[in-house]
Amino acid sequence: MTTPIVIDTDPGVDDAVAIMLALASPEVELKAVTSVFGNVALDATTANAGRLLAFCDRADVPLAAGAARPLVHPQAERAGEVHGWDGLGGRATTLPEPVAPQPQPAVELLASVLRAADQPVTLVPIGPLTNIALLLAVHPELAGRIARIVWMGGSLGAGNTVDTTGGSPPRSAAGLIHQTRVGGAAEFNAHCDPEAAHRVLTQADVPVTMVPLDLTLRCAAGPEWIEALAAGGPRGAALAGVITHYRAAFRARYGVDAVAVHDAVAVLEAVRPGTLTTTPTPMAVACDLGPARGATVGLPEGAGVPVQVALDADTVAVLAEILERLQHLD
Ligand code: BDR
Ligand code: CA
Repeated sequence: MTTPIVIDTDPGVDDAVAIMLALASPEVELKAVTSVFGNVALDATTANAGRLLAFCDRADVPLAAGAARPLVHPQAERAGEVHGWDGLGGRATTLPEPVAPQPQPAVELLASVLRAADQPVTLVPIGPLTNIALLLAVHPELAGRIARIVWMGGSLGAGNTVDTTGGSPPRSAAGLIHQTRVGGAAEFNAHCDPEAAHRVLTQADVPVTMVPLDLTLRCAAGPEWIEALAAGGPRGAALAGVITHYRAAFRARYGVDAVAVHDAVAVLEAVRPGTLTTTPTPMAVACDLGPARGATVGLPEGAGVPVQVALDADTVAVLAEILERLQHLD
């Protein structure tokens, strides 16, 4: 029996790897894709998700657009310098014209998928948690239809966003951070919408697995992996092309010729539950407007609802498994 999943995403180069991994994995049935603002603006993430579905000949997978901004406070920071101005390494228009999104908003597509499914559905958010927080708030009656939430985001160690403690990065008129530097306390997806992350990570109705930066940065695919992907066929070659800009950005930031496939690690856990080793840990999310905004903090046992935090895996095997599946995309 296949596992029904929905991917909520902000493509995003590693989102592209993750979506294509799901489409290459017979253990799961991708019931829908929903988009959210994040790496780039919502119109671009929606179009990119639509292009990826078209590219994989999967126009049958329904797509709907979700939140264009966070729940509470504006957050102007995007990640074009990492993912390319268009979110796909400057290569979005080399992919086919996008599958059109459905008219209903993401939350309603999610609700209809949950209602129609013949078994509980796994949600795999790989961007800011805005759509998922809205779903839980608007449709609490559907919580029992969600098998689990597997979220790529958060960090128990360092983040990958701004460090506002060491200076004064420019702030937008809208109020918040406007520039990316390494060293901030928050991981990007948590930083984009801390209130949404708080809503999802502290509720008790649906089990949550958090796949944090601490682990995904260890899942960095090197030159041989990228070359093998490119040699795997036309789709692998196109995906390797999309990765090019992200690879240069990763090298500039971390000094390593590799690409962390953050979001694909979460999808692999949804495809093969138990791939990642988790530690139950109650989580808190910093929701103040100070320098730690968006930081995810592990609390002592008993201090809250435990989240399954994926802190370990056989990272060599994870990367090999992702590659092997992507090589069979064509
Ligand atoms: C996360 O942030 C985004 O830039 C990536 O797509 C990933 O979801 C990693 O911190
Ligand atoms: Ca993402």
